Amino acid sequence: MAENLLIAEGGKEEKYALLYKQIASLTEGESDQIANMANVAAMIHATFGFWWTGFYRVMGEVLVLGPFQGPLACSRIKYGRGVCGTAWKEQTTQVVPDVELFPGHIACSSLSRSEIVVPVWHGNEIVAVLDIDSEELATFDEVDKVWLEKIVALL
Ligand code: SME
Repeated sequence: MAENLLIAEGGKEEKYALLYKQIASLTEGESDQIANMANVAAMIHATFGFWWTGFYRVMGEVLVLGPFQGPLACSRIKYGRGVCGTAWKEQTTQVVPDVELFPGHIACSSLSRSEIVVPVWHGNEIVAVLDIDSEELATFDEVDKVWLEKIVALL
């Protein structure tokens, strides 16, 4: 694929639709998971200008920081802890409009106000989570959930 990311004009739907196509074509030609996670984090981050976009990988009993874009983050998150550990444990996407109201939220950055965490499945096993943080409240909704779940299904 071209090395230039194209960002659609218009709203979130249009942006995700074009982003999805580019991620599909990129991941199709690359089998390395870290390479794909790195580019997916970069492409989502550049398209939307989120505060932090990245992956935590399941390594035994703990989530370990993977490829990301944004400021320094916690290296390890335990099963069931924070929004990431909850998405892993509950096996569902977590949409958090206000992180201060989420019990056990792990504040890697005090500037993060809302968050979405999407499990990455390989077959019937969760191998990673995609975590996105925003500096604004209530950034993420059903549209983000649906598209991000589609995107991580490409990994
Ligand atoms: N806030 C996350 C931790 C990861 S950082 O935000 C990058 C959580 O509660 O799981």
